Amino acid sequence: MYRNSWIQIDVDALRGNVRKLKALTQKKFIAVIKANGYGNGDVEIAKACLKSGADMLAVSSLDEALSIRHAGIDAELLILGYVDPLHLSLCQKENITVTAVSLRWVQNAVQQECRGLKVHMKVDTGMNRLGFKELDDLKQGLSLLKKRGVNVTGIFTHFVCSDVSDDQMTNCQMQRFESVLDHLDDSFEWIHCCNSDASVHYHETRSNAVRCGIAMFGITSYETDLENVMSLYTKIVHVKKVHAGETIGYGATYTAQKDEIIATVPIGYADGWIRRHQGRKAYVNGQEAEFVGRICMDQAMLRLEKWEEEGTLVELIGEHISLKRAAEELDTIPYEVMTLLSDRLTKVYMKKGSYSDEFTPRFERAEEL
Ligand SMILES: Cc1ncc(COP(=O)(O)O)c(C=O)c1O
Repeated sequence: MYRNSWIQIDVDALRGNVRKLKALTQKKFIAVIKANGYGNGDVEIAKACLKSGADMLAVSSLDEALSIRHAGIDAELLILGYVDPLHLSLCQKENITVTAVSLRWVQNAVQQECRGLKVHMKVDTGMNRLGFKELDDLKQGLSLLKKRGVNVTGIFTHFVCSDVSDDQMTNCQMQRFESVLDHLDDSFEWIHCCNSDASVHYHETRSNAVRCGIAMFGITSYETDLENVMSLYTKIVHVKKVHAGETIGYGATYTAQKDEIIATVPIGYADGWIRRHQGRKAYVNGQEAEFVGRICMDQAMLRLEKWEEEGTLVELIGEHISLKRAAEELDTIPYEVMTLLSDRLTKVYMKKGSYSDEFTPRFERAEEL
């Protein structure tokens, strides 16, 4: 690691969270590791989840699924998003389960060689994104798939409002999902509807699996004993005094009101530390320091209240400035803050309180090509 900015992942906390979620829900556990494991490294997060008892992994696309298979992980693997039916033979070869998203998708799928392919049926109970809306279409789709020897192993839906404690919408979606299950003669190995928030808050008895992503990282909309997993750090690489009236950074958007101490840190919008962080705070050795001036592509400037030496640790997300706080201050959600962090940041995996030898240096990847 040659750049002083990194994502730190507490693998023990992640594994503990998976075990807690499994114990709480008492259902099969589908670890959602899409978007590069929510920005934390898909392969490393997948391995940690599997070691802690995850029964299946879920991703959003065939590319993401292949990244897992190419790393030699042969666990049950479901693609939640759309897969072009032209690629189904590859899915079958790699033992990747795909989602049937509509009758039209099924009609196209059965034109391909798909005997033995594993499929989960997606039921649209209100999200209006992907899935069968009509029971007749679903029945027809199921029958077509079965006739072609496709292995329909699961059925699922996705809740729209699991983050709000008023369950009206979730109840309504659950009723629709149950009604669909009641009208089908089929039995499914995998029945799932709860994401993280629903898994910790909403109680239903018709499913036998949960699909959790963000809760594995300790984030939910409800009180839980899940632990924080992900932190983001950088270090001061330059510090100086500027005089009252001097400006900081591109566009001269900040003017020092008095003589001030300005530190430079090597993280910028190309790392996913977007320009909207201007005006927010970082935690530096007991003080909160404001990002002043525009965030640059690779660097940003902080106004310190007291002098700190070059090399001082700067916490951007962690014990003192939580991911939730960062998201709230940016008027967004923790998912977005996490997944925006780019692959340029090294990821460091902590085990038993110390750095493990697993990390993701970019140059080693390049040499593998
Ligand atoms: C279909 C589906 N299931 C489960 C999840 C996991 O959601 P969460 O991270 O809230 O657990 C997602 C994530 O967006 C999803 O799209």
